[in-house]
Amino acid sequence: MTTSKHRAAVLDGFNRPLRMTEVATPAPGPCEVRVRVRAIALNPFDRIVQTLGGLVTPWVAFPAVLGSDVAGEVVAVGDQCRRIQVGDRVLGLALGADRAGNRAAEGAFQEQVILRETCCCRLPAEVTLTQAAVLPLALATAASGLFLRNQLGLDPNPASAHVGYPTAPKGSVVVWGGATSVGSVAIQLARAAGYRVLSTASPHNHALLVGLGAAAVEDYREPRAVARLLEAAAGTTIAGVLAIGVGSGRACLQLAAGRNPRPKVAMASMPCPLDSAPIGPQIGWRLATLPRLAGGMAIQALRAGILRVPTSAIWGTALVDDPLGAATFGTFAEAALRDGRLQLVPEPLIAGSRLEDIPEAMETLRRGVSARKVVVQLG
Ligand SMILES: NC(=O)c1ccc[n+]([C@@H]2O[C@H](COP(=O)([O-])OP(=O)(O)OC[C@H]3O[C@@H](n4cnc5c(N)ncnc54)[C@H](OP(=O)(O)O)[C@@H]3O)[C@@H](O)[C@H]2O)c1
Repeated sequence: MTTSKHRAAVLDGFNRPLRMTEVATPAPGPCEVRVRVRAIALNPFDRIVQTLGGLVTPWVAFPAVLGSDVAGEVVAVGDQCRRIQVGDRVLGLALGADRAGNRAAEGAFQEQVILRETCCCRLPAEVTLTQAAVLPLALATAASGLFLRNQLGLDPNPASAHVGYPTAPKGSVVVWGGATSVGSVAIQLARAAGYRVLSTASPHNHALLVGLGAAAVEDYREPRAVARLLEAAAGTTIAGVLAIGVGSGRACLQLAAGRNPRPKVAMASMPCPLDSAPIGPQIGWRLATLPRLAGGMAIQALRAGILRVPTSAIWGTALVDDPLGAATFGTFAEAALRDGRLQLVPEPLIAGSRLEDIPEAMETLRRGVSARKVVVQLG
């Protein structure tokens, strides 16, 4: 019997380059699907795992395949799958380097990937696979931060009452960093759930965020941004604050401290950037960055305590083992992509057409993007 194979970008150990090779193509488990990957989007997390995984994802089993965001066609389904069928076009959250999956077959950087059915969303015919790839990790992180009980614990929307979430009085939600991919999805999720959204971005992205449903947008570099958002929230309860973007925690703590009772701040980002670690010797980088990171986290925790602001740190895939995961990717996203409540943003920035292009595409992301998602298209 011949075993079928496909190509993958494999990581043999932390702080090593990606290696292109052939790997065996596995059959999906009972509740899994196998997808022919047509588009892969990149996230800061990919590079952080590659270079600093020993610190942040020490569980990763090698050889590993990284990558969280894929879109493609379903080529095989497990015998307990009920929603997804062979031939469906889907986007999906890949869990290869995540504690929940942690096996090479589930990483996005390959031609065929195993995904959980609950982490897939079928696509309307008019949506391209390249557009669709921008969504999965941003959707998971935004939904986890807004709706999980140990994060902001907001009420997702009337349609998800069946998963047992309480109905809460609606108010304003602050999404700091609305032009990030996580932020631009969070604005839409909070709006769809019935909250009024206040956000921040560079001025050239304000119209984009208003188009996604933000009621007010301020420039996060402006010293008066916090005061102006508090003015914009006057007369409403601030139900929660989502802090996205390196260094956003400081401003969001200040904002939350401007209200009584204090709204909770759920933080997606670190106080200093971690995606600039070099592949190779890191002694100088570590000596310069890790004390700054540890100091920044300690100061942030101290400040939250002094200001009496409740906080939490978001792990973007935390929803996958919660009913919220299936409710978000299946129930909500499938309907919302069809009826226009969910737009596929940010716009893809095509950075290659082969697995070999992924390392350079990761560099493009590291150099910085503004309201764009770096995507590698596979033929
Ligand atoms: N905790 C988790 O599980 C998890 C999961 C995914 C992402 N993240 C983190 O979430 C952040 C966003 O990730 P992403 O992939 O969505 O990023 P991204 O789309 O690449 O972010 C680019 C955008 O960041 C905005 N930005 C940069 N610094 C900012 C700041 N201090 N305040 C507000 N906005 C700022 C810029 O907005 P303008 O162009 O308008 O200036 C730019 O458009 C990153 O820090 C990432 O590491 C965390």
